[in-house]
Amino acid sequence: MTPVTRRDFTKAAGLATALSYSRIFGANERIHMGYVGLGNRGDQVHDGFLEHGDAQTVAICDLREDYLDFAAKKSRGAPKRYTDYKKLLEDKDVDAVMIATPDHWHALMFVDACHAGKDVYVEKPLSLTVAEGRRMVEVADQTKRVVQVGIHRRSAKFLQEAAAYVQSGGIGHVTVAKGYHLYNEWPNGIGNAPDSTPPNEEMWNQWLGPSPKVPYNKNRMFYDFRWFYNYSGGQVTNFGVHYMDMLRWCLGKDAPKAVTVMGGKYVMKDNREIPDTLEALWEFDGPSLMVFSQYNSSAAGGNIQGAEMELRGTKGTMYIHGNRWDVVPEKVTEANVPARTPVDRVTEKAYNPSKKTVIEPASGKGSDDTAFHARNFLDCVKSRAKCNCDVLTGHQSTAATLIANIALKTKSYLEWDAKAEKFTNNAVANKYLSYQYRAPYKLG
Ligand SMILES: NC(=O)c1ccc[n+]([C@@H]2O[C@H](COP(=O)([O-])OP(=O)(O)OC[C@H]3O[C@@H](n4cnc5c(N)ncnc54)[C@H](O)[C@@H]3O)[C@@H](O)[C@H]2O)c1
Repeated sequence: MTPVTRRDFTKAAGLATALSYSRIFGANERIHMGYVGLGNRGDQVHDGFLEHGDAQTVAICDLREDYLDFAAKKSRGAPKRYTDYKKLLEDKDVDAVMIATPDHWHALMFVDACHAGKDVYVEKPLSLTVAEGRRMVEVADQTKRVVQVGIHRRSAKFLQEAAAYVQSGGIGHVTVAKGYHLYNEWPNGIGNAPDSTPPNEEMWNQWLGPSPKVPYNKNRMFYDFRWFYNYSGGQVTNFGVHYMDMLRWCLGKDAPKAVTVMGGKYVMKDNREIPDTLEALWEFDGPSLMVFSQYNSSAAGGNIQGAEMELRGTKGTMYIHGNRWDVVPEKVTEANVPARTPVDRVTEKAYNPSKKTVIEPASGKGSDDTAFHARNFLDCVKSRAKCNCDVLTGHQSTAATLIANIALKTKSYLEWDAKAEKFTNNAVANKYLSYQYRAPYKLG
């Protein structure tokens, strides 16, 4: 007897509810994917899915016809084309959706997709505000959706090994963990395009979505939206969320208890709103500090070792690069009493305490190809297991970076109650945890 697949089941019973999607999915069955947002990142993620024979592109959605043409050409088969994501969500042939629109669109599209019974791969940062992220976690739970947040390092084997190494105490107690984003765009960056009439008023309006209606400026739109706060959180949520996630993962921490940030637009002459230079500092229970440094300079790349991230432990330091990690052992003082007084100095051991390494050097290599993350999503859609970067994980990493931007905006040291998701020492800062959508947009 031919097994009844989930697709047959929902068609036959006409039960395209969230729950009906959670039951039957043959191990060899193809997942019918719909893609919303096929620009810079959406195209890369589409490629990642196309590497897997069980991912079928059945629907594509973008505001740009040229992006739709490009995506259609590389798809196996002829996907249906949409410019309205709601129409794609109504398409019963779509099992799961990938969302790679600008950040201000993530929450609305995600929640609508969950309610339409689709599993979701959504790009990072999960949301534009903490309140949106919390709602996304709730809705995904209520509708029992499988969710992968596009923090793709979570599916890289060499980074899984690095995280396990640190979690097992390999470098001792980590007191400080840092991520660096270095990129010199001085002096002109994205330039100073003036506000103007949009080439296509309807497209501009659709692109703005829930964000405030503002005059068209070409720098606000494709790709460069990430330098404007209505649509993104700048480098803290762009690159910073990858680092925050990796470091939280290594340290096994959910959320910081305090955050403060200094920085500004010190040298750039373009019309971006976000800083070109900043230092963000979070404190976690443990205790440990996490730091994100964004500099308008790139000569030495990363930290002193050229790494993107470093974790400084009592027994050793781990350096994490794009495709490898290394542990450099610390030299630990053997004598308990280093010489501090003339009397100490008469004891040779105290005067010249010996130092020795207590761990061996270690390293790992690999790749963080997005195709691994797509594979994990497809597997979880079938098994209904949690993805490597499930919605709560994505929310926790995103929320930590979002509150850093609030510390910068309010020029403050903020104490964070992670359970209530509120600041306890600054009422003004709490106002930035959500924002008023433009009518008629409403988060479901
Ligand atoms: N995981 C990663 O490493 C990574 C890397 C780059 C970008 N990203 C994330 O991907 C997202 C997109 O960034 P990008 O660089 O691809 O930007 P982009 O501007 O190149 O692409 C966004 C696409 O979304 C489309 N879009 C916007 N509003 C839409 C709507 N209402 N309906 C349908 N389509 C709409 C645009 O037309 C555009 O093609 C961002 O959230 C970004 O943070 C993640």
